[in-house]
Amino acid sequence: MCGIVGYIGNNQAPSILIDGLSKLEYRGYDSAGVAVHDGENINILKTKGRLSNLVKLVIENPLTGTLGIGHTRWATHGVPSDVNAHPHISNDNMIAVVHNGIIENYVDIKNELAAEGCVFLSDTDTEVIAHLIDKYYKECLDFEDAVFKAVNRFEGAYAIGIICKDCPDKLIAVRKGSPLVIGKGNGENYIASDIPALLNYTREVYFLEEDEVAVLTKDSVAIYDKNRNRVEREIYHVTWDIEAAEKSGYAHFMLKEINEQPKIVRETILNRVPENGDGIDLENIKLDRKDLENIDRIYMVACGTAYYAGLIGKHLIEKICRIPVISEVASEFRYSDPIIDDRTLLIVVSQSGETADTLEALRISKKNGARVLAIVNAVGSSIAREADDVFYILAGPEIAVASTKAYSAQVAAMYILACHIALELGKMTKDEFKEIKEQLYMLPSKIELILQKQDVEKKLAEKYMNVKNVFFIGRGLDYLVSKEGSLKLKEIAYLHSEAYAAGELKHGPIAMIDENTLVVAIVTQEELIEKTISNIKEVKARGAKTMAVAMKGNTKIAEVADDVIYIPRTMGILAPILANIPDQLFAYYMALNLGTDIDKPRNLAKSVTVE
Ligand code: G6P
Repeated sequence: MCGIVGYIGNNQAPSILIDGLSKLEYRGYDSAGVAVHDGENINILKTKGRLSNLVKLVIENPLTGTLGIGHTRWATHGVPSDVNAHPHISNDNMIAVVHNGIIENYVDIKNELAAEGCVFLSDTDTEVIAHLIDKYYKECLDFEDAVFKAVNRFEGAYAIGIICKDCPDKLIAVRKGSPLVIGKGNGENYIASDIPALLNYTREVYFLEEDEVAVLTKDSVAIYDKNRNRVEREIYHVTWDIEAAEKSGYAHFMLKEINEQPKIVRETILNRVPENGDGIDLENIKLDRKDLENIDRIYMVACGTAYYAGLIGKHLIEKICRIPVISEVASEFRYSDPIIDDRTLLIVVSQSGETADTLEALRISKKNGARVLAIVNAVGSSIAREADDVFYILAGPEIAVASTKAYSAQVAAMYILACHIALELGKMTKDEFKEIKEQLYMLPSKIELILQKQDVEKKLAEKYMNVKNVFFIGRGLDYLVSKEGSLKLKEIAYLHSEAYAAGELKHGPIAMIDENTLVVAIVTQEELIEKTISNIKEVKARGAKTMAVAMKGNTKIAEVADDVIYIPRTMGILAPILANIPDQLFAYYMALNLGTDIDKPRNLAKSVTVE
């Protein structure tokens, strides 16, 4: 999604803005631009394409000024083009804006302004923001008044950065539904969509809350609520390093993040499953026996990879705790008139904590009395702030658009949560927990072992790089892992791939199988091995190439599949976290061979803050 940066201080803004934008590239974008106030006028440079195009433009047409806003755009209204790129500016060059999100009532405002003689240059919804603020500014000649008046009219979700030609000492930021952080410096202040853009300059940040407006000068930050009352906000000190958001020698963030998984899974587990003790420590999450007995329905709601992690959670809670769980993607859940009351527990899963549909699912559920537990990575994100309880997965910043380490940490969180519920409700004995705990502790080193042998996936990706169709198949938990494996291949290798329940393949999709098809079978669930082997035979007989991911010691599979990737042995329920790693590596090396933009795949965004 779009990235916003803004700077006000004593240093030259252009290089700070571009540096900040480069740290937001991971969010996904198709054009970029900056607006810089030179003391008298606002000058804008913007262009379609990568940030390097903007850098070239800035070198050819140097800008000077110590106040500015910058933007990476991910097109929603209007194709990616120079004209649609942000910043947008009012007709009299008075008000310049950058915007993330959607102004849902922009057509009405546009018609109104056009009737008054305003000329629109772009197809974006954003342009109305600049023109409407400008209209009010002309009426009152007060930048802040004009912004407040305009913001009252906007419907939708947005974060906005605004500068005014007449006010070279002021930068205004607005937040409703899309994330925005303010960086506090010494004699300089910043705004950004996400923390990595600020880390070269400051670690002191304020998170803007819903409907808040921040007025920045180089020496002050004033935050107001929607009624224009001054709000006091505590500073949040960012503890992680810029290196955590940099590649550290890896060719891609995705590869770095895949390789970080042993450490992250270890931390997620150790943090909640203390070595000395015979239970789970959910710290401040209030989910004891009494709370759980009051719950008669659990929903597991999320989007994308987080949804697939949620599916594993659903399976585990049902299997271990014998409580029915309804899993749903957030974009469907929110419009499905779900049955929610004060006996409902909603579990939302989100890496960014900002996904618009997931956030809305949370809000609807809370409004109807549900208790909300959020499994989140980004500290201080909207979902984390609005949920009743937060289970932080501690994966650190995930920069590659395709989620890897967050998925593993989310699945680890699901094991912990399922064990906690089962222990509280007496569905698991201390001895059973002890066995799972021992196996959980071994997962990080087993992931390490898989990663050490990543030459296997690399070679297989060379072997299969020309296939045109891929099916991921499996049964039970293996089917759920297949879904995430298939998504990775689609996201970064742009390869047509589908996940299918192995037994369902013959009800249609098998008609598509030919010698250009690769079938990847996940075969870790002991009781289902024979069944899936039969399905592998069926597709082989129809010309497909076959590759399996199986636990060490499964020799039968090697007799059937063309290639087998072995993972270390573990308990069946813990296999998903291991079985998914080869899928991640295979997708990565396929994408590498196919020459795609691995960390920033086309058309995708890391954090989807629009519906
Ligand atoms: C986007 C990202 C995916 C992610 C999904 C949900 O589609 O590209 O990687 O899984 O959003 O994001 P969340 O931040 O809520 O986990």
